[in-house]
Amino acid sequence: MNENPADIKSSSGTRIDWVDSSCRLLQATRAEFADTQPFSNLTIGMSIHLEPKTAALILTLHQGGAKIIATGNLNSTQPETVAYLKDRGITVVGHQTKDANVHSAFLDQIVASQPDLLLDNGGDLFIRYIDHPYEGLIGGTEETTSGRMRLAPLREQIQKPVLVINDSPIKQFAENHHAVGQSTVESIMRFTNRVTNGRRVTVIGYGSTGKGVAAHFRNAFSVVTVVDTNPVATLQANLDGFLTPERTHALATADLIITATGARNVLTADDLAYLKDEVVLANVGHFPQEIDVAGIEASGQIENIVAYDDEIVTWQLKDERRVHLLARGHMVNLAGPRPLGNSIESMDLGFTLQARCLEAVARGDVGPQHCVVPVPPEIDAQVAISYLELVRAPN
Ligand SMILES: NC(=O)c1ccc[n+]([C@@H]2O[C@H](COP(=O)([O-])OP(=O)(O)OC[C@H]3O[C@@H](n4cnc5c(N)ncnc54)[C@H](O)[C@@H]3O)[C@@H](O)[C@H]2O)c1
Repeated sequence: MNENPADIKSSSGTRIDWVDSSCRLLQATRAEFADTQPFSNLTIGMSIHLEPKTAALILTLHQGGAKIIATGNLNSTQPETVAYLKDRGITVVGHQTKDANVHSAFLDQIVASQPDLLLDNGGDLFIRYIDHPYEGLIGGTEETTSGRMRLAPLREQIQKPVLVINDSPIKQFAENHHAVGQSTVESIMRFTNRVTNGRRVTVIGYGSTGKGVAAHFRNAFSVVTVVDTNPVATLQANLDGFLTPERTHALATADLIITATGARNVLTADDLAYLKDEVVLANVGHFPQEIDVAGIEASGQIENIVAYDDEIVTWQLKDERRVHLLARGHMVNLAGPRPLGNSIESMDLGFTLQARCLEAVARGDVGPQHCVVPVPPEIDAQVAISYLELVRAPN
């Protein structure tokens, strides 16, 4: 025990400082990049959610010698993060906006500055590069599935290395499976403040995301049922120990229904007939289209809508059952009061894949034959080893 409290120094930190200091893999990568300078004399143009976890990535690339020119994604730019980055010498284009045209002009500006490398999130930058190609682009990375789907048919026009982070197995199990499952339990409890124990939870969709959601609710002492249109996925859920009754039975028994499919209109007005009184509906799929909110509200089955604080809406049906909807069907783990999203460690892993992939592109370790391909296995292995070394290190 310190006998002289006056000797204790104290300081304070922001949430961004906390996140940055918790990104231990990126911190280690940053220290290495400070010596190795893989991006010396290179500019990286990027469009990605500007929030604390991406700030940790950006500062890592900057430490590796990169000049950065960054803009956010539509609507997700956090002003505190922008200020934090600007204070540290990062060029940030634009600001938070819901206006797609305004955002599009920010993206144009990034590509017009002709960066050597592009870090893309949804294919917006590479699409613009195809429209306005320039000498000197080495290649880059794409974070998402949706970006991969957009860019894969355009390989002939890109002809540069583009590594797709989402297609790494590490991203699939660390983020989609474990982190989304965990943050979905955390978010639904934060939204509703209701117990998970002994509740009947139906998860619709048993891909990497639905598997994690189902497992985490089982760990939270819920009784979990799984529905999937694919019989093979349903069989897997059954062998994993989940209940797999017919869909209507799965809906009728649920206290909480979570969609995790990536598909449209998974829950519609036709399903209202089956739902229990007091059921809670939520979605974790990327687009807010899995629960057909507009169709349900136009169905003529609702007597009254109560909008509570914190994005909880209750539909009082004409037969007096009450159905609660969280975040109006937007991704529940990124919505509601003080949304934190997925765990820092899962994003630290994903962003370390980003940093290593950009390093491989910058060093010429990959070429045009690696246009819109998954993360090379040796980078997956390198990142896995780094994480394991960190967690094995004695405290
Ligand atoms: N919220 C987040 O933080 C987060 C993170 C990662 C992925 N996602 C999103 O989660 C969604 C699912 O991703 P995934 O990787 O698990 O996809 P996936 O393709 O691996 O799995 C989807 C599953 O849903 C099933 N399915 C499709 N339509 C269905 C329907 N109408 N009814 C029942 N089952 C149906 C498919 O058969 C498949 O098994 C995507 O939209 C993805 O973008 C969200």
